[in-house]
Amino acid sequence: MKKVLIPTKLDPMARTVLEEHGGYHVVQDEEKSLDELIEAHSDTYVLIVRSERITKEVIDSLPSLKVIIRAGAGYNTIDTKYARQKGIDVMNTPGANANAVVELAIAMMLADARHVIKADPSVRSGQWEKKKFMGRELAGKTIGVMGLGAIGKLLVRRLRGFDVRVLGYDPVLGGDRARDLGVELVEIPTLFEQSDYVSLHIPENDQTRNMIDASLLGLMKVGATLINTSRSGVINEEDLRRIKPERKLRFLNDVYPKDEAGPKSVADIADVMLPHLGASTREANVNAARRAAEQLIEYDEKGISSYVVNRDIPAGLDEAFGELSNTLARLCRHALGREVPLKLIETSFYGSLKPYSKWLILPITAALNKDFDRTMDYAAALLYLKEMGVEYIDRETDESKGYNNSITIDMTGHVSRDEFRHASVRGTVAEGNLMISRINDFDKLYFEPKGHCVVFTYRDRPGVLGRIAASIAGEGINIDDVRNPHNTKADQSLALLKVNKAVPRDLVDRIAQDIEAHLAFHVEL
Ligand code: 3PG
Repeated sequence: MKKVLIPTKLDPMARTVLEEHGGYHVVQDEEKSLDELIEAHSDTYVLIVRSERITKEVIDSLPSLKVIIRAGAGYNTIDTKYARQKGIDVMNTPGANANAVVELAIAMMLADARHVIKADPSVRSGQWEKKKFMGRELAGKTIGVMGLGAIGKLLVRRLRGFDVRVLGYDPVLGGDRARDLGVELVEIPTLFEQSDYVSLHIPENDQTRNMIDASLLGLMKVGATLINTSRSGVINEEDLRRIKPERKLRFLNDVYPKDEAGPKSVADIADVMLPHLGASTREANVNAARRAAEQLIEYDEKGISSYVVNRDIPAGLDEAFGELSNTLARLCRHALGREVPLKLIETSFYGSLKPYSKWLILPITAALNKDFDRTMDYAAALLYLKEMGVEYIDRETDESKGYNNSITIDMTGHVSRDEFRHASVRGTVAEGNLMISRINDFDKLYFEPKGHCVVFTYRDRPGVLGRIAASIAGEGINIDDVRNPHNTKADQSLALLKVNKAVPRDLVDRIAQDIEAHLAFHVEL
């Protein structure tokens, strides 16, 4: 059992998902201090946290720690560099609370523009200050969105109905994506110069700390509004204090150097102050909790590290190809026969994947053995395979085949001293979905590898698919999808069925006997 420690107010969904899955012992406690919990649970394998500070000291007190999951977006509270040194992966759950943050940013803009916060106590105290609370409308204004990640992009979409012009800055988002989104990409100074509202959606890191300084704030329109729901450290507070009265800026703030009670240094310059409420909605809390648990399961079972933020995933590689490598390797291992000792793995990475082959061997190795430590590097993965008695060859690819980005994995095993068995699978990523295109000699499958699948090959003759389907249905298992290609040269057929639950081993064996299958296996992909 892997111990998961959740020392924070996170929806019980994380615990439910992990316990229902099995294999995890979850301890959740938001009452005791982090120090107390660490002392009592020094065998923790995973920490799931919100804004708790995960320092060197915390990491050193947990010798079994392998993963830290930040159930949320910002991970500036975690010493990610030290975690890396210790071989600990840090993940976040980007997008899980995007809607909550976006709705809060809009709520702050509207509340301030219409004096909602001050007008309420005024009326309660018996006053009628209608003239004083003359407001401003959002329609027709220009909104600058700094940072177009999950939150910034969603803000652009949500703003569509307000009839505003939206400017955006992002260091990686391309022009085509921006056009589809309906945002005009501009350089940072232009965004500050032309916007009536500037909303910050950037992470705090070495590049962004103090980035919003006098040189940008001084460009803002007189009377413009700055909204910060990201991190306090991205604004140079002293510069804002100096420029704010000059430019008559409004400053609406949700974030502080520390999430805790006590006086706030920005109190004199913030027109609205909230206690870091961005992600504090029931919905976001459930989403982040579910995502943290699901990401952990995928990480443990498939070696999927798409959300790891402190490991060098090569820039430019679509992470779906990591998942594809893992899925193809598991499928290939089943096609070879789990009981057949594996001797050789050969891979071909086509299209623009070749430069990433060293990185892609990690999810392939993780598919072969659950105990494989994904924090290893290429050399260590090769050594691991060698110790398992497996030779690895990354083949030169034949570009004349004209394949797009796609992967072929072949495996060879010893059935006996002189008898070898061979399996080969191919796949790609199409429209964001994994696709299996070939299993052995059965081509053009275009099958999405998700959930329970059962595979048979047999001598081609009428009626076999019907017999397989009847046997499966006879056990109350539903068939969701089928591929049944024929290989006329070899006089063979393949039946690949996607089913709604696991097909028990004895049923696979019975069907295999009944149809005289050459290959028969169930796999959960
Ligand atoms: C985030 O980074 O996800 C938000 O700032 C929310 O943080 P919280 O989980 O501590 O509320």
